Amino acid sequence: MDSETKTRDYKIAVIPGDGTGPEVITEGIKVLNAASCRYGFKLEFVEYDFGGERYLRTGETLPDSALEELKTFDAIYLGAIGHPDVAPGILERGILLKIRFELDQYINLRPVKLYPGVWTPLKDKGPEDIDFVVVRENTEGLYCGAGGFLRKGTPQEVAIQESINTRYGVERCVRFAFEYTKKRNKKKKLTLCGKTNVLTYAFNLWERVFQEVAKDYPEITTDYAHVDATCMWMVKNPEWFDVIVTDNMFGDIITDLGAMIQGGMGIAAGGNINPQGVSMFEPIGGSAPKYTGKNVINPLAAISAGMMMLEYLGEEEAARKIESAIIEVTGKRLKSLAAGKMGYSTTEVGDMVAEFTAKDSISIP
Ligand code: IPM
Ligand code: MN
Repeated sequence: MDSETKTRDYKIAVIPGDGTGPEVITEGIKVLNAASCRYGFKLEFVEYDFGGERYLRTGETLPDSALEELKTFDAIYLGAIGHPDVAPGILERGILLKIRFELDQYINLRPVKLYPGVWTPLKDKGPEDIDFVVVRENTEGLYCGAGGFLRKGTPQEVAIQESINTRYGVERCVRFAFEYTKKRNKKKKLTLCGKTNVLTYAFNLWERVFQEVAKDYPEITTDYAHVDATCMWMVKNPEWFDVIVTDNMFGDIITDLGAMIQGGMGIAAGGNINPQGVSMFEPIGGSAPKYTGKNVINPLAAISAGMMMLEYLGEEEAARKIESAIIEVTGKRLKSLAAGKMGYSTTEVGDMVAEFTAKDSISIP
């Protein structure tokens, strides 16, 4: 969008989804509205009921017509997908992965940042040590669904699941990661996380592309770590990382580890980014059926996803204000980030963050 035609009216598609998704999205919208009032931009929310309930009622996951509609928004705000009465894979493939793939959201951006006052299971590590971002490829690898069975149901059964890595897909992801590392302007270090010693085709391609693109970014320090070692360093020396780029499956796995060291699923958020198209922002935890409707789930991950959405829309100042409101709440109010142990309800946490977002100074009641 060029700056002359840029408006500050944003149309957001909201998919609250399953389980605790609707509860946390309500709090996220509360905070986004507080930010829009304060910073003078407009948000129009259009809600869609895709998820487990609708699937059980109608047999429909995400109709193609809805996909076309989603393409007309400025961004998508998603709660959670996953229902205990629906077999694993149906909703994930039919809704979440379908949006990621069809809208070509080829980057999954997952910040791992420990806020002050938040408990981390890592001994002797603090906010100055845990602050990095994972750039996960989001449209290829093992997630393509390529493969199949041979002799299914017999003792000779064969199951094949293929990892698809295209030059085009790897290169655009790696370029995004270099560009992101440059703009982030912190340690200016990009680590490729792979498994070149075993996945000698897939990560050979990744490594060659990485080294080639690196030539365009002499100011960025490059590094490589196998995925197993990456897990080890994330626990032992998280301060070594600035930005990590990796494939879809490894990115999925290491970002759950990342979520734990930043304080848990209650705080971890991510963006599914199509830099030229429509992006989708979501808390990275699941639908948490056991906490559904109890007003105990932590909404901060959804609120953080909303913050990332504003940043992406260009409302930088509002995003920073939401982040400082989150820090105020995590650092000085909540007893824990875990569901049911916060010392406050879901709605109270949303109220506090919204209030601090709306206020100039933060007063302690
Ligand atoms: C995530 C989730 C999804 C994934 C599942 C629900 C398909 O775990 O967003 O990390 O594997 O990408
Ligand atoms: Mn995951």
